Amino acid sequence: MSRPNVKASRTTRVLVIGASGFHGQHIVKTLSEKWDVVQASRRPRGPAWQTVDLADPATFSCFGQYDAVVNAGHSSCVSSRAAVEYCLREGVLFMEATHDSRHIQELLALRTSQKDPQGTAILGMGVFPGLTNLMAREALTQAPAADHLEILLRVGVVSGAGRSMCRHMMQHLQSRPFYFEESQLCHGDPMQRVPLTLSNGDVPPRHEGGDSILVGFPESLMLHESAATRNIVTALSLKPEWMNGILRSAGWLVRRAPLVGRLVEAGMILGRSVLLRWLPASLEITVVARSKACLSPVARVDVRCGDGARCAAAAIAGGLELLMERRPLPRGVFTPDELLSLHDLLPRIAHSSPGGRGCDLQWTTNGGANTQAASETRT
Ligand SMILES: NC(=O)c1ccc[n+]([C@@H]2O[C@H](COP(=O)([O-])OP(=O)(O)OC[C@H]3O[C@@H](n4cnc5c(N)ncnc54)[C@H](OP(=O)(O)O)[C@@H]3O)[C@@H](O)[C@H]2O)c1
Repeated sequence: MSRPNVKASRTTRVLVIGASGFHGQHIVKTLSEKWDVVQASRRPRGPAWQTVDLADPATFSCFGQYDAVVNAGHSSCVSSRAAVEYCLREGVLFMEATHDSRHIQELLALRTSQKDPQGTAILGMGVFPGLTNLMAREALTQAPAADHLEILLRVGVVSGAGRSMCRHMMQHLQSRPFYFEESQLCHGDPMQRVPLTLSNGDVPPRHEGGDSILVGFPESLMLHESAATRNIVTALSLKPEWMNGILRSAGWLVRRAPLVGRLVEAGMILGRSVLLRWLPASLEITVVARSKACLSPVARVDVRCGDGARCAAAAIAGGLELLMERRPLPRGVFTPDELLSLHDLLPRIAHSSPGGRGCDLQWTTNGGANTQAASETRT
C-alpha cells in the first residue's frame, strides 16, 4: 500500500486535554510524530504543559493559539460542553474523544442550539465511537435501502485501559442499555443477550454474535442523528466469549450490592490502568446494514486491530490530518461520518502510529470481497 500524501507539519500546533491519562498519552505519542503537541492538564507536569480544567472556562483562553484542540479528559467526571461552546464561538477546531453516551447526547444538542458557529467540533472520534461510525456509513452507502444497523464490538478485556474507560464499563453494568427501533429510543434489560444476524450464506461468518450483550453505545445516538437510520442495535462481546457470562454475573451483582460495585470498579482500575496498562486490547468490529424485514445482511464491514488504544489514537491523528488538509472546514458540530470517510481514514490509521510500528489493522467489506491488511511498518 502506498503511503498517503501527508501534509502535517511541525508548525501545526495541537493541544491535548487529558494528556496525562491513558488515552491522552497514546494520542500525544501518536500526534507528536508529525505535529507540535502541547499537553494540557489541571495540574501541569512541567513548564511546557498548559493548564486546562474543563470545569473552569477561564482556562480556555489558550485554545486560540492552537490549530486544533483534542479532548481525552475523563468524560464521566466532567463535560466538555463549555469547551465546545467556546471553540464554536471563537473559531477553534475541537475534536472530542469521549465514548460516554450522556456526554455525546449533551454535545449533539449543540448542533441546533448554537447559532452562527465560527468553529468546528467533531464528536466521538477514535475507534468506538469514531471508526465504527465510518464503518456504519460505509455499510449504509453500500446498501442505501437499509433501515437497520447492527454494530458488534468484540474486545479483549485482559488489557490496559484508563480510569475513564473503567468507569464507562461500570456504567454499562449498572444501567439499562438503549437502542433505536423505528426511530424510537428504547431500553432493554441490563446485560441482556441480543440476537444479531451478522452472517448469512453469502457472507462467511467471522463473528456469530451468539452470546453478545446489548450495550447502549453512543454510535446509536450519533448515527440516528447523522444518517437518520431507524433501527440501530449496538452490542458487546468479550474475548474469550466465556467471559460474557462473568460480565453478566458481575452486572447482576453490582446492581444488587452497590458496595460490590465500588470494589469491582476499584479492582478494574487497579488491574487495567495499573497492572495491565501496557497490554494491548485486540478489537474486532463488525457492522451490518440490512433491511429490517430481511434477515440477511445486505452490506457488512469488518475491522480488526491488534491494539485498540493505539488504533484509537491513530484514528484521531488520521482524522485531524484529513480535516486540516480540507480547510476551510464546515462550521458547527459534526459526527465523524459527516466529515470523514472510511476509505480515507483507514490508510491514515495504518500509517499513524508511534515508532512506525503499524496498527496491525485489517478490514474487509462484504465478507472479504475487499480485504486489506495494513500491518506493514513505515519506512
Ligand atoms: N473513541 C475511542 O475509541 C476512545 C478510546 C479510549 C478512550 N476514549 C475516551 O477518552 C477519554 C479518556 O479516557 P481514559 O480512559 O484515557 O481516561 P483516564 O486515563 O482516566 O484520563 C483522563 C484524564 O482526564 C483528565 N481530567 C480529569 N478531569 C479533568 C478536567 N476537569 N479538566 C481537564 N482534564 C481533566 C485527567 O488529567 P489531569 O488530572 O492531569 O487533569 C486524566 O488524566 C474518555 O472520554 C474516553 O471515553 C475514547
